[in-house]
Amino acid sequence: MLFKHCTGGLTIFALLMSLLIVLVAKINGASLNASNYQYHSVVEQRTSSDSRIIEIILQDSDMVKVWGTNLTAITWAHAVNSQSLLDEVLTETGNIDFIEADIVLGKLNGEGADMPVMAHPPAIISDLTLAEFLNQIMAFNRNHEGQQKGVKLDFKSIEVFEGSLHILDENVPNMLGYPVWINADILSGPVDQNKTVPVDANRFFAGCMRYKQAALSIGWTTNWGADFRDGEYTQDQCDAMLESLTANNVLATGQAITFPVRAGIAANSEEQLHRLVATVNETNESTLTIWSSDGDYVDVDKLRKLIFGFGVERVYLDVPEELASRLDLGNSDSGASTFRSLFGFSFVSLCFWALSSWLQRI
Ligand SMILES: *[C@@H]1O[C@H](CO)[C@@H](O)[C@H](O)[C@H]1NC(C)=O
Ligand SMILES: *[C@@H]1O[C@H](CO)[C@@H](O)[C@H](O)[C@H]1NC(C)=O
Ligand SMILES: *[C@@H]1O[C@H](CO)[C@@H](O)[C@H](O)[C@H]1NC(C)=O
Ligand SMILES: *[C@@H]1O[C@H](CO)[C@@H](O)[C@H](O)[C@H]1NC(C)=O
Ligand SMILES: *[C@@H]1O[C@H](CO)[C@@H](O)[C@H](O)[C@H]1NC(C)=O
Repeated sequence: MLFKHCTGGLTIFALLMSLLIVLVAKINGASLNASNYQYHSVVEQRTSSDSRIIEIILQDSDMVKVWGTNLTAITWAHAVNSQSLLDEVLTETGNIDFIEADIVLGKLNGEGADMPVMAHPPAIISDLTLAEFLNQIMAFNRNHEGQQKGVKLDFKSIEVFEGSLHILDENVPNMLGYPVWINADILSGPVDQNKTVPVDANRFFAGCMRYKQAALSIGWTTNWGADFRDGEYTQDQCDAMLESLTANNVLATGQAITFPVRAGIAANSEEQLHRLVATVNETNESTLTIWSSDGDYVDVDKLRKLIFGFGVERVYLDVPEELASRLDLGNSDSGASTFRSLFGFSFVSLCFWALSSWLQRI
């Protein structure tokens, strides 16, 4: 859009420059040299006559809000593993966007044959089966246009995932118009985690291929809590994730990918996670989903830095309210203002580039 305008005449020049001046004014601390300031005085003379147009463009420059959706604003209900919790979440007045729940091979009310039920290990008994869980969410979403809830299904073993395929086959193709995520921890992760067996990656991906519209949420098993301080997603663990994605040809299918990472550990892993997301991003866009358990130690400042480093349009935030409020993402000091001025700064660079191209043509 900007480039097209550049072929215009002086008006466009004036507009560009006025836009520039406002953006420059917004940047705090960015060093601008003398030649830039010269441009300013020129602009002021030429644009003072039509402030209306300037305003329109200014609103356009606010597009950062439109371009990126604020994924951290999405609200989660975590571990919705019983009928009463599901009832609580499936209400019109509730403000939950996304339902997260765990699936194990277990028994409905402790009786009968093993089947996929909603529970978190070590529990294996539930009053809610996977089939019933999906039915109720689908029914709710059918009847509540515009208020549909997303679903994240966290499969706790390869056995329960494969045992769920016939249920997923029946339902997932009908779950359209809202997000469906299939989650598993497919690799052993921090810190020296060796208690939980990861879900077999190759078999998991093979099953997921059947549900092209579902997002893949793939993570590492973790060992963390209140007493942990050091520990990170290591480069080796991130490389193993990439190898697994490549080996299973996942990047070629175009399925959306999100990496669920535990808040306390992710806060210590900024560099590795950036590298991972950037590498995947060469072929497919990916996001992070930051989650946390109650009581987990989290270095809040570092986590804030991580979130603003990726941008709120690339990070889902499924953490307890207490942590969310300490993160204080609405407060735009340090992290947020860096984000803004970086945006402003690249926009100014673009203006300079456009201007110099235009100057070369006359
Ligand atoms: C001054 O600004 C021009 C135009 O943006 C830029 O090319 C140049 O590198 C700047 N010089 C210094 C010393 O910052
Ligand atoms: C798990 O890791 C801990 C700490 O690294 C080690 O002491 C323990 O022997 C390991 N257990 C198994 C089953 O490998
Ligand atoms: C993911 O990558 C594949 C292969 O490069 C491409 O065909 C597909 O369109 C991409 N999907 C998305 C959502 O970017
Ligand atoms: C990933 O790719 C998208 C689209 O190609 C781009 O908008 C985004 O900035 C990239 N993100 C990273 C972290 O490279
Ligand atoms: C993103 O959403 C969070 C949570 O609602 C909010 O605090 C923050 O102000 C939003 N940030 C932006 C840039 O919109």
